[in-house]
Amino acid sequence: LLGAYGSERKTPVYVVGGFVRDLLLNVENLDIDIVVEGDGPEFGKFVAEQLMIKYVVHEKFNTCSLFFKDGFRIDVATARTEYYESPAELPKVEVSTIKKDLYRRDFSINAMAIKLNQETFGTLLDFFNSKKDLEEGIIKVLYSLSFVEDPTRILRAIRFEQRYNFQIDEQTCEYMKKTVKNEYLEKVTGPRIRDELEKILKEPKPLKSIRRMGEFKIISHLFPFSYYTPTLDKDVEKLFELYGYFEKNYKQYTQNVRFLHLLLFVLLQYTPEETVKFIEYRYGLPGNFYDNLAEARESFEKLNELKHPQYSHFFDCIKILNSEQIIFVAVKLKENLREKLFKYFDKIENLELSVNGKELKDKGYYGKEIKNKLEELTKKLLNDEIKPGEERKYI
Ligand code: CTP
Repeated sequence: LLGAYGSERKTPVYVVGGFVRDLLLNVENLDIDIVVEGDGPEFGKFVAEQLMIKYVVHEKFNTCSLFFKDGFRIDVATARTEYYESPAELPKVEVSTIKKDLYRRDFSINAMAIKLNQETFGTLLDFFNSKKDLEEGIIKVLYSLSFVEDPTRILRAIRFEQRYNFQIDEQTCEYMKKTVKNEYLEKVTGPRIRDELEKILKEPKPLKSIRRMGEFKIISHLFPFSYYTPTLDKDVEKLFELYGYFEKNYKQYTQNVRFLHLLLFVLLQYTPEETVKFIEYRYGLPGNFYDNLAEARESFEKLNELKHPQYSHFFDCIKILNSEQIIFVAVKLKENLREKLFKYFDKIENLELSVNGKELKDKGYYGKEIKNKLEELTKKLLNDEIKPGEERKYI
């Protein structure tokens, strides 16, 4: 349909980028990017009017988004170059236009286009051996300054590598390392980095990507003082394992949890306060991020020191922590204590006091005393110091 409109308007229309990549890989992709050799916004507007659907023009990016009735969205962009120079040269310029547009993209696998105009519908444009790289599973940049121009591509390379189980090409690895070393990641705004990190974490196998980020020294460039040592790697691995365990068995603790925050608790656990504060600001973390980290650290250190941990100790620690802190504490606990923590969760969940606040109030307890007494009874029950139903004897 877009091709037909393109032909009507004498505008070459292509579907490009990730959609083409995934089409060739036989992977579902509902994100359609269209490039036209002409005026993208104008063409988008024309299509939207014909189909009577909503559209939004983004002047700044010279693009137009079309919103189909079932929530489906298509972005239409302008191929970036001087397509209008000379009518006589149009066919040649037409090719070079889309070619230039594709050339400035991140990786060869993302730099293919398929023509949509009726006469040539379905023609694959592959100027840079993209199809071969796709078949061989190689992530490769198209020009040496690709990462310098857009350092977020460093994170994208890793994301695609792990997603498709591909390999970043050797030369591309060198460019990446050099760009990281020359501190180009530091030049990117915090929110853009954060977006890329969130995207990595949404992929099915983020642990491998994080390890790769460690190998490329990306972690310490994004988070100063955080060195991806084997010790840190063990904690990150544990975090993934335990998060899965919580999701399966203690879902209530994962409900309001941002996985990025959890990961950053682990990565920043040895980072000095001032630097954590800087990271908090740079990446838009909650203002109490450092305090929460410090509080959680205090909790697991206290528990880990105990010779004979009792459920009441867990109660005292856990009651002041939020879910993100609790999961982080679980990561950092010694094995036997971690097991006890899960037993504690089961125990507290099934625990029911046979007295309540009102009864205590009637007995003359006042204000904070009521809460304290209820907690004391809970802890006694947890430790099996009193039998269920015998609480009344102790008030
Ligand atoms: N692109 C780029 N450089 C970037 C981001 C994007 O060159 N830093 C190009 C790539 O050609 C990419 C296209 O823009 O294919 C669309 O980008 P995006 O939607 O972010 O990525 P997809 O490739 O569609 O990947 P995903 O499947 O994760 O959506």
